[in-house]
Amino acid sequence: MPGKSGFDGGQIGTEYDLLLMAIPHYNEVQEEVARLVATHANNRPISILEIGCGTGLTTRALLQHVPNVHITAVDKYSTMLDQAKNALRGHKNVTFVEADACYFLARQDDISFDAVVTVFCLHNEDSPYRRNAFREIGRIVRQGGFVVSADKIAQDDPVQHQASFDAQMEALAVFRGTPHWELEEEWRAHYLEDNGRRFIESEQVFLLTKEAHCHEVKRHRRWGMEALYTGIRHGNDRH
Ligand SMILES: C[S@@+](CC[C@H](N)C(=O)[O-])C[C@H]1O[C@@H](n2cnc3c(N)ncnc32)[C@H](O)[C@@H]1O
Repeated sequence: MPGKSGFDGGQIGTEYDLLLMAIPHYNEVQEEVARLVATHANNRPISILEIGCGTGLTTRALLQHVPNVHITAVDKYSTMLDQAKNALRGHKNVTFVEADACYFLARQDDISFDAVVTVFCLHNEDSPYRRNAFREIGRIVRQGGFVVSADKIAQDDPVQHQASFDAQMEALAVFRGTPHWELEEEWRAHYLEDNGRRFIESEQVFLLTKEAHCHEVKRHRRWGMEALYTGIRHGNDRH
């Protein structure tokens, strides 16, 4: 059954983009992701697998900043994906796919993409799922390819994490007294679920380094609960 705190039920799916009211740096994350991909591509044609495109906010930033791009944008919920299709209709260099990320990844050939981008998606799944996803990402991205993961990634220090988590909860007060007041409770419930599946920095580094076989693994930025990591797929060490 879809839960009210999930993207397939309740207002957080149908009114997802209003979350930008509670996360002022939301667009900055998208822009930073897209700029890093553009720098990596350096005007060469690039095929990107985007995991968890949602309503298309990451996809849009990639289209704006990365020339010669083709994006395969995957999301498992039509509530979200249909909004992306609608917002980006007319863009010929995007293919939308409704599928679970690991289901989709398992059906791709080795070395099928130049880059993989995932923003605010995989923290929604548990740790074994994330491990499988990054293992598959390492298989389907080409050697020298770029892997970008911007997500809700908790600081390893629990005290720092709690402060960021509390600030994230408090920011939801922005919905009080607006016609979207119910979003506060729905997002609170969603954030509490996220916290139960906590995705921590050391796990992200492990997933990029060991599962996706990346080097130059870097954290570029942190904005409270959100952090942006990249890695470059190693050469000749296919598994
Ligand atoms: C919070 S939205 C973020 C969307 C977009 N990247 C952005 O930053 O605005 C996360 C999306 O990931 C999707 N998602 C979560 N788990 C997924 C999975 N296992 N496979 C495919 N999509 C998934 C959800 O349906 C949701 O649309």
